[in-house]
Amino acid sequence: MKGHLVSTVPVIAGRDIALPRHVAIIMDGNGRWAKKRLLPRAAGHKAGVEAVRRVTRHARAIGIEALTIYAFSSENWRRPEEEIGDLMGLLRLFIRSDLAELVRENVRLKIIGDHRRFPKDVVALIDDAVARCAANTGPILAIALNYGAQAELVRAAQRLAERLPPDQIDAAALESELETRDLPPLDLLIRTSGEHRLSNFLLWQAAYAELLFVDTLWPDFGAADLDAAVVAFGSRNRRFGGL
Ligand code: FPP
Repeated sequence: MKGHLVSTVPVIAGRDIALPRHVAIIMDGNGRWAKKRLLPRAAGHKAGVEAVRRVTRHARAIGIEALTIYAFSSENWRRPEEEIGDLMGLLRLFIRSDLAELVRENVRLKIIGDHRRFPKDVVALIDDAVARCAANTGPILAIALNYGAQAELVRAAQRLAERLPPDQIDAAALESELETRDLPPLDLLIRTSGEHRLSNFLLWQAAYAELLFVDTLWPDFGAADLDAAVVAFGSRNRRFGGL
């Protein structure tokens, strides 16, 4: 599918580029970014939130329909309590400072994963934020919170087993039970910081996504990096198993 990329980056501005409809990002490298600067890890996460702001804004500006970001995995509970507390604090701050913009910009906010395990006030803030964006009709921002793809697939299988005989369970039925069921198909999955893993993120959805691993640490990732990722996507030859 071709889409026109509106970009401020001269190298690609005005070119007709196949625009991914749905981009997902594993935002990795906050800790290393902080370490390089002799700062506490929390400073890396704080800078990571600024990158979230930059990249979500730019994704909207260039016309990406859906952006899914991995903010807290179901495995992140293994981190020290203090770091989990810092991440919860940043989530609170992000919602308080950015919700008005999301509402104004017509963003549909979605949460994937089970955020109910978060502190009560964070759950309330998140639920209120989702409700206040509920009437919006524009681009989707999906934030993965306490998300794990294997748990998502297990839940989907359980629900299917309850309502369908085995011979009626097919890929479409399974997809209808995934948390991404209302999102366009995943086109591009980016992981920052030089790690080459999916880390239990969108395993089913990534089946035919283009994967892009970049060395940039997440807090350094910005509009130009997203443009470069979109250009790289545009140059891939997607065959979906065909020739
Ligand atoms: C990975 O870096 C990043 C995370 C586990 C958390 C991502 C969270 C944010 C960017 C901020 C919160 C987001 C929102 C939407 C408010 P790492 O700590 O694993 O980095 P390292 O591998 O260098 O240690």
